[in-house]
Amino acid sequence: MAQQIPKVLVTEPIPEKSLAYLREHAVVKVGAKGEFQNETNLINTITDYDALLCMLSTPVTKKVLEAAQNLKIVANFAVGYNNIDVESAKTLGIKVANTPDVLTEACGDFAMGLLMAVTRKFNEAERYLREGKFTGWEPMGFLGMELRGKTLGIVGMGRIGQAFAHRARTFGMNIAYHNRSKVSSEIEHSLNATYISSIEELAKNSDVLSLNCPLTNETHHLVDEKLFKLMPSHSILINISRGPVVDESALADALHGKTIAGAGIDVFENEPKVHPDLLKAPNCVLLPHIASATFETREAIGMLASKAIVSVLKGKHDSNIPNLI
Ligand code: DGY
Repeated sequence: MAQQIPKVLVTEPIPEKSLAYLREHAVVKVGAKGEFQNETNLINTITDYDALLCMLSTPVTKKVLEAAQNLKIVANFAVGYNNIDVESAKTLGIKVANTPDVLTEACGDFAMGLLMAVTRKFNEAERYLREGKFTGWEPMGFLGMELRGKTLGIVGMGRIGQAFAHRARTFGMNIAYHNRSKVSSEIEHSLNATYISSIEELAKNSDVLSLNCPLTNETHHLVDEKLFKLMPSHSILINISRGPVVDESALADALHGKTIAGAGIDVFENEPKVHPDLLKAPNCVLLPHIASATFETREAIGMLASKAIVSVLKGKHDSNIPNLI
């Protein structure tokens, strides 16, 4: 009997190189933008697919996984995988992959840029110029906080946290961090980083607090009204991890009430919605989840996810697939 060609569902258009690679091994359906951000659409479509290449906005719930009769692997086009019910996948014998490493440098660059944009008021100043308000050089206009000598407190000292810390060191910042466990002394040494065992202490002692941790039950609303009150009033919050790590309404209040001085936010609690009070808040740069958005990185993400899919479809041993969770 002729062998059946496997079917792969890719939930959104991704770089062509990955699609071409997948098409060498499978029949590939590519969803339209946003089509599979909807659980029902996914449940109705996934039934006979062998593999799913999904986005961080795809709700891969227990119901979706149970509706899939042939599914062997879910590969997330992202490093964070809180959109996937990994436990249910494991129970059903479905493998799960993410895309570590390939986006670390792009995210490190982005965090540094976001911090500069907030502290040096890029967006505010640009709006001012475009609105025709620039009538001459101002000695007291758009004054921001200098980074040299300030402390960057990193919550979640994984690959991306470290990449941000390396860049911040070259700007003369001191590094403190809070993590589930201490990183190796080599890493601490290379970053001159100090471990702080309580997030409250880190918040009190940081000029910039950066969230680089995954979203889990433990990190949900880790930054809330109580924590904002501990942060110095000149401090800045940077979040490129996941929106629900911050209580977004408390963040809006902290910015409006000047409890903190500013924020750089790439991720939101109910993406793509943004809390209306945050949209109106002063001194914050709000971006549509673009930390890994470079041509090079998105192509690498696509290839890593696609390779995991092809390896599983070909029956390769798990130990040969570096990005399985
Ligand atoms: C990811 O891949 O999880 C990140 O959110 C990229 O920005």
